[in-house]
Amino acid sequence: MPVPHIVTPIPGPKSLAMYEQERKLIAPGLQSVTQWSRVCISHGDDCVLYDLDGNAILDFMAGIGVCSIGHAHPTWTAAVAEQAGKLAAGGFTSESRVRLLETMQSILPPSLDKMQFYSGGAEAVEAALRLARCATGKSMVVGFWGGYHGKTEGTRPLSEGEQVGYGLPTPGVIAAPYADPRHSPFSGDGDLVERTAGFLREMITHGTNRDIAAIIVEPVQGRGGNIVPPPGFLRAVREVAHEVGALFVADEMITGFYRTGPAFAFMHEDCVPDILIVGKGFGNGYPISGVATTEHIARSEPWGKPSGNSSSYGGNALACAAAATTVQVLRDERLGENARAVGAHLLRRLRRLVEQSPIVGDVRGKGLLVGIELVREPGSREPLTREEVKPIFLDLLSRGLLVMPSGSSLRINPPLTLTRELADAGCDILEEVLVGARVGAAGTAL
Ligand SMILES: Cc1ncc(COP(=O)(O)O)c(C=O)c1O
Repeated sequence: MPVPHIVTPIPGPKSLAMYEQERKLIAPGLQSVTQWSRVCISHGDDCVLYDLDGNAILDFMAGIGVCSIGHAHPTWTAAVAEQAGKLAAGGFTSESRVRLLETMQSILPPSLDKMQFYSGGAEAVEAALRLARCATGKSMVVGFWGGYHGKTEGTRPLSEGEQVGYGLPTPGVIAAPYADPRHSPFSGDGDLVERTAGFLREMITHGTNRDIAAIIVEPVQGRGGNIVPPPGFLRAVREVAHEVGALFVADEMITGFYRTGPAFAFMHEDCVPDILIVGKGFGNGYPISGVATTEHIARSEPWGKPSGNSSSYGGNALACAAAATTVQVLRDERLGENARAVGAHLLRRLRRLVEQSPIVGDVRGKGLLVGIELVREPGSREPLTREEVKPIFLDLLSRGLLVMPSGSSLRINPPLTLTRELADAGCDILEEVLVGARVGAAGTAL
């Protein structure tokens, strides 16, 4: 059967009935795309999602970069089922945790030889920031405009769009412009990396108490729209961090586990962080996240004391079996090489849209992490609103392609198993929809 394969309008009657049944009981606030689409997914197979009505939808979203080795990968499914039949809960040493630690050592630089595990992304970010404060004896954290690190109280101040309406944010956090090639205040003249790093330095000198524990950065900004900074940006941030006596923390929740080609995106610049944060693609859907750091930093107290950073679910045998198998499959199937090759092909094809579509302002990407920025008219940098992006998302979905809208951008982060043929099938749909699209006088996408 060719993919995508559409047999009913989306949502079909069975999806819609299940959606309405759920809506009576579930609290509002779920991901917008789930509410816009009103679809009920029954199962997945590699890069394809099947809804209750039998529609086969090409998945360019992958649970927002979570499903790294494809839905229901047989090796992963067997490993999780086997471990679930033996032991799921508890923090004791397990064979699967030892296997995971040793597997991680084989893909990490030798200096990052200590790891700890958690269950969610924001939880791992918070653990990393607590560790940075213990290791440096300092208090403040510097992040970046457009960043996203979670919705917990400690991470919200580092996540653009998560502050307004919740009262006073957790203190001690400040943000500087990211090296966004299109929307940074420094993206006009001069060297963007140099100017961004220069401002970061000045901001710390003149706008803080200079008591900086960490500078935390995403190597590619995910929720910002898969924004790729120029080469050299990570190195420049690390240099500033070390100049001011702070730790350089890389949040690779989205960029990790071969999504951009190498095991981690910091490897493009050979710029090893002091603390690396991982999650999402780590467990292929089983909730597991983690931090990796040096032995010296990990020993910092009270973080490194008994029970200093443990949690109920962190590093249990089931989570570790899921993650160890995911990483093994990523390596055995050389999915980093696939991400590089298919991602380059996807980017080449989609970049043509900047010329072909009146509402595509930019297409950027690294590996299988691509962003399409939607704008009001050709040559404009004025972003479309969420309401204007919604009909475009629904049009793509009705033709069987699921992408992730984020602000004015469409984010593309499929499973790393994506073939060139499926990449082409998705590009065909994106072209069909975006080449003819325009924004109406009333601001609605037509
Ligand atoms: C870079 C980054 N850090 C942290 C998080 C938070 O992860 P979680 O949603 O698992 O808490 C996300 C989630 O999208 C992310 O993209």
